[in-house]
Amino acid sequence: MAAPRLRVLAAVVALAAAGCGAFEFQEATVDAIQLGFRNGSLTSTALVRFYLDQIARLNPLLRAVIEVNPDALAQAARADAERQASGGRCAAGLHGVPVLLKDNIATRDRLNTTAGSLALLGSVVPRDAGVVARLRRAGAVILGKANPSEWSNFRPVESGWSARGGQTLNPYVLSASPCGSSAGPGVAAAANMAAVTLGSETDGSILCPSSSNSVVGIKPTVGLSSRSGVIPITPRQDTIGPMCRTVSDAVHVLDAIVGYDKLDAEATGAASKFIPRGGYTQFLKMDGLRGKRIGAPAVFFQGYNDFQTAVYEKHLNTMREHGATVIKDLDIATNFTDLNAQETLLMIAEFKISLNAYLSDLLRSPVRSLSDVIAFNNAHPVEERLKDFGQPDLIAAEETNGIGARERAAIRRLKEISANGLEKLMKEHQLDAIVAPNSDASSVLAVGGYPGIAVPAGYDKEGVPFAISFGGLRGYEPRLIEMAYAFEQATKVRRPPTFKR
Ligand SMILES: *[C@@H]1O[C@H](CO)[C@@H](O)[C@H](O)[C@H]1NC(C)=O
Ligand SMILES: *[C@@H]1O[C@H](CO)[C@@H](O)[C@H](O)[C@H]1NC(C)=O
Ligand SMILES: *[C@@H]1O[C@H](CO)[C@@H](O)[C@H](O)[C@H]1NC(C)=O
Repeated sequence: MAAPRLRVLAAVVALAAAGCGAFEFQEATVDAIQLGFRNGSLTSTALVRFYLDQIARLNPLLRAVIEVNPDALAQAARADAERQASGGRCAAGLHGVPVLLKDNIATRDRLNTTAGSLALLGSVVPRDAGVVARLRRAGAVILGKANPSEWSNFRPVESGWSARGGQTLNPYVLSASPCGSSAGPGVAAAANMAAVTLGSETDGSILCPSSSNSVVGIKPTVGLSSRSGVIPITPRQDTIGPMCRTVSDAVHVLDAIVGYDKLDAEATGAASKFIPRGGYTQFLKMDGLRGKRIGAPAVFFQGYNDFQTAVYEKHLNTMREHGATVIKDLDIATNFTDLNAQETLLMIAEFKISLNAYLSDLLRSPVRSLSDVIAFNNAHPVEERLKDFGQPDLIAAEETNGIGARERAAIRRLKEISANGLEKLMKEHQLDAIVAPNSDASSVLAVGGYPGIAVPAGYDKEGVPFAISFGGLRGYEPRLIEMAYAFEQATKVRRPPTFKR
């Protein structure tokens, strides 16, 4: 007789826990977290404990995290004390919010910074990366390091594998690719293993794993966020950006990381003129699609099955219903074979220069040059899976010899490709953005240093997530955020992962 009553009681307790007063950790947003801090239902310490539990529970399967920060709880306690002392006034921005960093972003603390490679284990960085210094000033908690595809694109970018972290899995469909190279941040955000995360992109490394793991990824204009202290590929294309469960969360992170850095002076100096007074949250507008002109280049929408094509068609109509003018079947007039050839030629030369500069700046390191890394991999073929991946790109990079005539010609050619391609298209049609499925526009955005935002767009018949990306010219973040946010709010596609086998 008692059993049903107990069940009723349990239901009432559960209801109370969910609805009135208790903090809901799953899918918590930055806004909810700050509200929870202010109304006393949440502490940073409780939040960090939740994510550490999630990591302990899920990481043996997903391998999204390489290291947790042994100081995370102490940082949370400090944030809680600061908030108390300030009477709640510092419950804003990312204060007390746990952030997970891709493992190519340097932290001068007990965490290692290795880009997933065993070669860099034991290296000591001279200082925090520029973006980390900003996060610390904002009072964020550094939760740990997320698993990248090792050496970013210089292993198969889609692999999501690193020698230190192992194989990252997609939390929706375990057999599906998580994409890379920011696989760990994408998966960790998707599976509620962190409040927010930071990834990095050279060509597709934020947009692709965001698309594959149903999270929002912002690939900022190159130079908007500092690259100092980030294990590099090329300063012409590298950019650091948020990967989060919502557009709003990603925008909170963007606000925290953008700005001038004297250690990345040229790029951050040039891009800082784009940063709007009052930050980016003012562009989180429900009617952000109204009056926008959006181009859909035909080349990006080819090769999708009927189901996904129909979903994208529906989304373009949703944008129209919310006041945007969507122009389909545009010709972006870009020779992608040429683009990719020039991009690669230049990237390998710039990678050697930038990686050698990064390695020589380390206080201590087992490897001091690209050739040391190649030798290390040859000496550890099993751990570094040389049979599966080889290291052809590292070797090709090592064979380059600085920026010569060929590289200068490639720089000129890429400028022409951007000028005659995306820039011309956007001017001719007075576009605020182009849209493309997933990360399909990533190369066009990469070579011009242009920004892009990926937003969840659906799940295929197996349950694998896919996305739509908005891209624009340098400094177009305000309008891209308006469109991405309005689209997200109109469609609400994201749902938590299903862990399907
Ligand atoms: C405090 O805010 C959170 C949202 O962050 C909400 O879920 C909770 O119910 C609120 N608690 C109280 C006591 O108002
Ligand atoms: C950093 O790497 C060393 C091995 O060199 C390891 O002992 C240490 O635990 C790592 N740090 C963290 C925070 O995991
Ligand atoms: C595209 O570029 C490639 C490589 O530069 C070249 O061989 C090809 O002819 C070009 N295609 C067109 C249609 O111009």
